[in-house]
Amino acid sequence: MADTFRVALSGDFKHADGTPTFPDFDLEPLRLAPGVEMAFIDSESPISGEQLQDFDALILLAHRFGRESIPQGGRLAVVARFGVGFDSVDVEACTEAGIAVVITPDGVRRPVAASILTLMLALTGKVMTKDRLTREGAAGYAKRSAHMGVGLVGRTFGSLGIGNIGAEVFRLLKPFDMKLIAHDPYVDQRAAAELGVELVELEDLFRRADVLSVSCPLSKETQHIVNAERLALMKPTAYLINTARGPIVDQQALTEVLADGRIAGAGLDVLEKEPPDDDDPILKLDNVILAPHALCWTDQCFAGIGAADVTAVLDIQHGRIPRGVVNRTVVEDARFKERLREFGRRFGSGAKVG
Ligand SMILES: NC(=O)c1ccc[n+]([C@@H]2O[C@H](COP(=O)([O-])OP(=O)(O)OC[C@H]3O[C@@H](n4cnc5c(N)ncnc54)[C@H](O)[C@@H]3O)[C@@H](O)[C@H]2O)c1
Repeated sequence: MADTFRVALSGDFKHADGTPTFPDFDLEPLRLAPGVEMAFIDSESPISGEQLQDFDALILLAHRFGRESIPQGGRLAVVARFGVGFDSVDVEACTEAGIAVVITPDGVRRPVAASILTLMLALTGKVMTKDRLTREGAAGYAKRSAHMGVGLVGRTFGSLGIGNIGAEVFRLLKPFDMKLIAHDPYVDQRAAAELGVELVELEDLFRRADVLSVSCPLSKETQHIVNAERLALMKPTAYLINTARGPIVDQQALTEVLADGRIAGAGLDVLEKEPPDDDDPILKLDNVILAPHALCWTDQCFAGIGAADVTAVLDIQHGRIPRGVVNRTVVEDARFKERLREFGRRFGSGAKVG
């Protein structure tokens, strides 16, 4: 039995010249952790299983972890994704192999919620327009009164989804004195009430919101859930914000309502096609604020994501079930439980794994 807990970092955590891709990802806690040995592997996408045979944990950036990435020998216990998306991981193959797949909701919660507020304030404050007016000089200043912003007190903020990020937005909105509504078929009234949020039917969310933000996952159920029919229910003064996933919104339908001025504007961190085609008509609209799926990218965001991954890996090393496990059935898998117990015996305070 190896006396070190070996942690691999996928090769894309370093640029070709050896500098770190995310300098704010602090690896010191991992380097200094007793019993831990970490190494950047020279991986490509998809990662090969052979490279992972001698590791207990993998912290994975963007490289694909497919069925072929499962190492022989059964040593690997956890794949910790750097972020919350896990479409690059074959979760089913991991579950079959008794490997936990972990994501980092703690790392993105505040940064994405702050991005939603950024878009709301920029849209309702007409920041982009006022920037342009200023650059026009005297002619722009003369037009100021034609570009009033929208005050938020008493206005209604609606969220499609009230999970990790949606709930954080509502917490941050407290001092804004807005009315708070949400639609989420999987959240209970009590959790919503604790946040001061009224749960409403889907169509009512579109009818009532002055600012409507999308914070649900992309699924068969939510693909194009924001469609022409529902956009038609929105107030002409309302704004749509999407920081979740592009295909949740029918972008062609949105482009049409924006071009016709049937809603006031939109703030989009995500698009149906990323990057968009050069001739995508949404790029021509001046009532849209766009970001390249990176509005939440800050020093603190990457530090937080990295810290959450390190915590998850060290939890496993000490025989504890980490937060953010995607494949929950693994937690009940006999091989996984045995491995956790073993880690607990070797490195930690003992596993609490039933
Ligand atoms: N822009 C970015 O950089 C970025 C970063 C992180 C996350 N995201 C995206 O943000 C989204 C939300 O993330 P999260 O961490 O809050 O996820 P989460 O799983 O914690 O919360 C999602 C919520 O959506 C709800 N939901 C599911 N189906 C729904 C439906 N049909 N209608 C309404 N609500 C529904 C769920 O019940 C849940 O409460 C995800 O799509 C995620 O990929 C984007």
